[in-house]
Amino acid sequence: MDKLVITGGRPLSGEVTISGAKNAALPILCACLLTPEPLTLTHVPALNDIGTMLKLLVQMGVKVERDADTVRLDASGLNNSVAPYEMVKTMRASILVLGPLVARCGEASVSLPGGCAIGARPVDQHIKGLQAMGAEVTVEHGYVHAKVGRLKGARLFTDMVTVTGTENLMMAACLADGVTLIENAAREPEVVDLAKCLIAMGAKISGAGTDVIRIEGVTDLHGATHRIMPDRIEAGTYLCAAAATGSTVTLNGISSGYLDAVVDKLMDAGCDIVSEKTAEREFIRITAQAKLKAVSIRTAPYPGFPTDMQAQFMAINCIAEGSAVMRETIFENRFMHAVELQRLGANIKIDGNTAFVTGVKRLEGATVMATDLRASASLVIAGLVAEGETHIERIYHLDRGYEQLEAKLMALGAQVRREKA
Ligand code: UD1
Repeated sequence: MDKLVITGGRPLSGEVTISGAKNAALPILCACLLTPEPLTLTHVPALNDIGTMLKLLVQMGVKVERDADTVRLDASGLNNSVAPYEMVKTMRASILVLGPLVARCGEASVSLPGGCAIGARPVDQHIKGLQAMGAEVTVEHGYVHAKVGRLKGARLFTDMVTVTGTENLMMAACLADGVTLIENAAREPEVVDLAKCLIAMGAKISGAGTDVIRIEGVTDLHGATHRIMPDRIEAGTYLCAAAATGSTVTLNGISSGYLDAVVDKLMDAGCDIVSEKTAEREFIRITAQAKLKAVSIRTAPYPGFPTDMQAQFMAINCIAEGSAVMRETIFENRFMHAVELQRLGANIKIDGNTAFVTGVKRLEGATVMATDLRASASLVIAGLVAEGETHIERIYHLDRGYEQLEAKLMALGAQVRREKA
C-alpha cells in the first residue's frame, strides 16, 4: 500500500485551485439514471470514489465518456437495476442509485452499505421515504429491494437531517405522481447543486437549501449540462493546512460563502481571511499568525460546523495556544485520528463524543495510519507542522477524496512524496 512521506516545518505559500466537489458529483452522477437523454457534467474531480460510481453506473448499462474533467453519461440503455455488494461495500454513496432507479424503472436492488469506520450509518430514512411514496421495500440477504408501479408524491419527514437521504428522496420524487414535500431536509450546498442540475433536466423543485424541499413530479426528465460546484471540504482542508503552518495561501475557484462556519472558526483562531467573488474570479486568501489560538467546535448539519472538517481542526488545535473542546454530534466514532495525532506528540483526551485538546509546543514526525478520508487529511496537516518526517500509511483513503493532493501541496512549497508499496 502506498504511503505519503512529509517533511514538516516549512511554511506554505502561493495559490491552489479547488476541484469540483466529490459530495456534489456523486449524487449528480446518479441523476443520469432519471433520463434516457445524455447528461453532461463538467468540473468533475478525478477521484477514486468518482471512478467507483462510474463503474457502478456502467454495469447498469449507462454509457460513460470521460474527457479531462468532463463526463458524459447516457442511460438510454439502462438494463440492470442491481447495485451489487462488491461495489457498494467500497463506497457508501452507492446507495444514491436507489432513488433514481426506483423512480425510472419501478424497481431496484441495492446492497445495504453496512457500517463503516466512522459509524453505523444506516439507510432507514431512505427506505422510510420510498415506502411513504408507495414503494414496497424489503430487506433480504443484505439487499434493499424496492418495487412500485409509479412513485406517488407524499409528505416526507426524516427523523434526523441526512444528506444522501435528502438527495435520494429528492431524485426519486422528480418522477413521482404529484407533489412531494421533504421536511427536515438537509440544507447542504451539495443538495442545492443537485437540485440545480435536476431543474436543468426539467424537474420542478423549490426550497433546496432550506429545510423544506417541494418537488412537483413530472413524467420525464431530459438531458442537460451542469458544472459541479467547488469542493468546500477540500478548500477547508487547505485553509487548515495554511493556518497550521502560519502561511499565506490563496484558494482559487471558491469563495467563502460555502465555508462560513469554517472561516469563522479560523478567524477566531487568529487568521485573516479575505474572499472575493466577481464574474472573472473567485478566491479566498488566508494569512495565518505563527501562533494560533485553540478553538472549540461542535459539529452540526449545514450551516453548522461540518463534521467533515472536525479532524482537520483537531490538527490545528494540537499546536495552538490553550485548550479546546471538540464535540462530534453526527457520527459516533469519528475520533480515530486522535490516537494517530497522539503518536506525533499531541495532547488529546477523548470522552465519548467529546475530545479535549490542549495545544503542545511542537509535534514530532512519526509513522501514522490513515483510518478514513478526513482523518487522513488531519494527519497530512499535522505532518506539515511536525518536525522531521511523518510517514502516513494507508493513503488510499486520501485518493478517494483529494484530487492531486501531493501535486497541490508541492506547488505550495510543501515537501511531500508518495512511496509506492
Ligand atoms: C454525507 C457526506 C459525508 C458527511 C455526512 C454528514 C456524501 C456522499 N457524504 O454522508 O461526507 O460526513 O453527509 O455531513 O455526501 N442516518 C441514519 N439513517 C439514515 C441516514 C442517516 O441514522 O437513513 C444518520 C447517520 O448514521 C449519521 C447522520 O444520520 O449519524 C447523518 O448522516 P448523513 O447525513 O446521511 O450522512 P451521509 O449522507 O452518509
